[in-house]
Amino acid sequence: ALVSMRQLLDHAAEFGYGLPAFNVNNLEQMRAIMEAADKVDAPVIVQASAGARKYAGAPFLRHLILAAVEEFPHIPVVMHQDHGTSPDVCQRSIQLGFSSVMMDGSLKSDGKTPADYDYNVDVTRTVVNFAHACGVSVEGEIGCLGSLETGMAGEEDGVGAEGTLDHSQLLTDPEEAARFVKDTGVDALAIAIGTSHGAYKFTRPPTGDILAINRIKEIHARLPNTHLVMHGSSSVPQDWLAIINEFGGEIPETYGVPVEEIVEGIKHGVRKVNIDTDLRLASTGAVRRYLATHKAEFDPRKYLAETVKAMRDICIARYEAFGSAGQA
Ligand code: G3H
Ligand code: 13P
Ligand code: NA
Ligand code: ZN
Repeated sequence: ALVSMRQLLDHAAEFGYGLPAFNVNNLEQMRAIMEAADKVDAPVIVQASAGARKYAGAPFLRHLILAAVEEFPHIPVVMHQDHGTSPDVCQRSIQLGFSSVMMDGSLKSDGKTPADYDYNVDVTRTVVNFAHACGVSVEGEIGCLGSLETGMAGEEDGVGAEGTLDHSQLLTDPEEAARFVKDTGVDALAIAIGTSHGAYKFTRPPTGDILAINRIKEIHARLPNTHLVMHGSSSVPQDWLAIINEFGGEIPETYGVPVEEIVEGIKHGVRKVNIDTDLRLASTGAVRRYLATHKAEFDPRKYLAETVKAMRDICIARYEAFGSAGQA
């Protein structure tokens, strides 16, 4: 059944677990997530970005998620809009049937320029007002995602490029977070602790100076009843990087957020953990390996079935590590 985010996150808080929120763009990702959830009996959050809507088309994306609900009626599913850049975007998603939206007012509507506190409160409060009127949950963000190593607002190509942020913007301030929750009434709060989107998060296995798990504890101490959200939470599996590079890829050395650090965050109020890159890496590795070792094969179902398996294994591992297995 389609459920609101608030329902699932309240349950997760009550029972002390976390939920991976996987990005979806296509059928194979959707199948992998649902088959994994079905296997381990986990509730599901699937989220679609603006890029996903552009790629698949809003109606296809909507029906992909609704198809998952139809095929797996016993699994609670949240249909979440990831990183809305304006109240208008969020409103359209609600009209499309999303049960949860993120208003990312940490950035201006270009999705790149850091915004000030008053702008963030204004757009987020607006979305909370109309979303709550129709039973839809809202995620807000305070602080800007980006690398504490380079000061770059994270970009997906590993080059950074969208300008630099100062240290205070890259780490959510607990007092400001508390004020923001009070001023907006959000159901869930995304925080900045040094992670960034994409595969190029850290140039070395992260330590506390570049991945600030301790900051989560300070925010949770100040906001014990707020559901915290970690973005940029792919772990960037080294085994998949090796497979990609073995079969023709060229991905430079890079590191993600270790699963055990996320688990530490879950002990301190993190309830939603956004993961996109890990499924992309597994999918690409599976395709590269299959095509390199089956040179006469040309049926896309053959290599796409390999991507489903690869992504499903990652989903299962995250459901189990975060404690959401067995909670559906
Ligand atoms: O927010 C970042 C997600 O990984 C979505 O990425 O905008 O390329 O779909 P995308
Ligand atoms: P990753 O790029 O680490 O998978 O993060 C995804 C994300 O935060 C989507 O909002
Ligand atoms: Na989100
Ligand atoms: Zn994100």
